[in-house]
Amino acid sequence: MENCAKKYLITTYGCQMNLHESEKLAGILTSMGYESTSKENEADVIVFNTCCIRENAEDRAEGNIGALKQLKKKNKNLIIAVGGCMTQQKGEAEKLHKKFPFIDIIFGTHNLENFKELLLEKISSKKSILAVMEKEGEIIEGTPRFRTSFPNAWVNIAYGCNNFCSYCIVPYVRGRERSRKFSDVVAECKELIKQGYKEITLLGQNVNSYGNDTKEADFSDLLNEIASIEGDFRLRYMTNHPKDLSEKLALTIKNNPKICKSIHLPLQAGSNNVLKNMNRKYTQEDYLNKVELLRKHVPDIAITTDIMVGFPGETDEDFNETVSVVKKVNFSGAFTFIYSRRKGTPADKMPNQIPPEISKKRIIELINLQNSINRKDSKNYLGKTVQILCEGFDEKKKLYLGRDEYGRMAYFNGNNQDLGNFVCVKITKTGGISLYGEKI
Ligand code: 5AD
Ligand code: SF4
Repeated sequence: MENCAKKYLITTYGCQMNLHESEKLAGILTSMGYESTSKENEADVIVFNTCCIRENAEDRAEGNIGALKQLKKKNKNLIIAVGGCMTQQKGEAEKLHKKFPFIDIIFGTHNLENFKELLLEKISSKKSILAVMEKEGEIIEGTPRFRTSFPNAWVNIAYGCNNFCSYCIVPYVRGRERSRKFSDVVAECKELIKQGYKEITLLGQNVNSYGNDTKEADFSDLLNEIASIEGDFRLRYMTNHPKDLSEKLALTIKNNPKICKSIHLPLQAGSNNVLKNMNRKYTQEDYLNKVELLRKHVPDIAITTDIMVGFPGETDEDFNETVSVVKKVNFSGAFTFIYSRRKGTPADKMPNQIPPEISKKRIIELINLQNSINRKDSKNYLGKTVQILCEGFDEKKKLYLGRDEYGRMAYFNGNNQDLGNFVCVKITKTGGISLYGEKI
């Protein structure tokens, strides 16, 4: 019998928060009887879940939306929806609607939970729908999720951000910080572990300020509670803000073997001048002290980071301060970005914007430095046995793959039974940041 279920295709840009929100969109569509497809020409509904953190994320999304015009001409019943951070920016929905009048639904970050109603409204009317609520509402629980990353599961603990780093668009498109209820988060984790998920990643723009609004419990209390759930699983979380990282968190990591010994701690810049202009609310010394605090309690903790180059006014000396911190900390990994001007943020109006040639030179230097640190770090793995959570099969390498608790990716000869399970792998070879080994 032919399968006549309607089909959806979701394209996601940006961070893990967005990937998880696409799982909610997929959950809503599944509850309406839709099935997923990876082919555009098979889809009845195409959703773009967009990002606006840097200009290139927006450009990519716009390019792909534009390319759908032809498909829409061929298939008049196709519904195209665009949502996420890009559409939440002031005036952006109207701009998108003008530029791409064939988009059927434009929805903001605060309207995601209403996607079912928006889709039903569109199906019963010819008009395009613009639904961008300006302000965030209360947290809505109970939205179905169609999870796509077994054995890993994402769990939101908080939404929004109150930090207003001067370069960042997030507080404007995600609203103020709202923590989910302690019992709701714990119940979701319990259910996931019961279902067999082996790794839970707690998500928030600044997980360290979890509970500041609800006053129920702080982030460490939440971690302790989740880590005490019975079962064979690992716990991760992101992102941390250095100004809010506490000794209590370091001790919580130390005392709970289920919490991975790895932490993502965005540095952004090493120069105190730049940090001040970024409104990061810490100095280089503060940052290094937090690193020391973490390593005092958890000596082998892997620290990864985000670094930006080319922030307005960044001099060669400022950049050298960043280089110096990278050398001192010995990061286990770094995501590096060229500063991108975002309309409506204070940094967009700052003088001395840095020419792209200079930013490019700086980012290349930084990437090379971090790569050399990674290579050295990999060599230390040779001969060691690590516990890997097997999460997939690499078709090109014809090897199974997974990460250790420090976040390192390892490839090994395995079999289908390893998928979703913890496997011990002896590292025999390294390649850049990746490790290769034998299952033992
Ligand atoms: N330009 C470049 N990078 C940015 N980030 C945030 N805003 C910008 C911007 N305007 C980076 C920060 C953040 C990461 C998620 O994205 O490093 O930690
Ligand atoms: Fe953006 Fe700063 Fe908030 Fe992170 S903490 S989301 S960089 S404003």
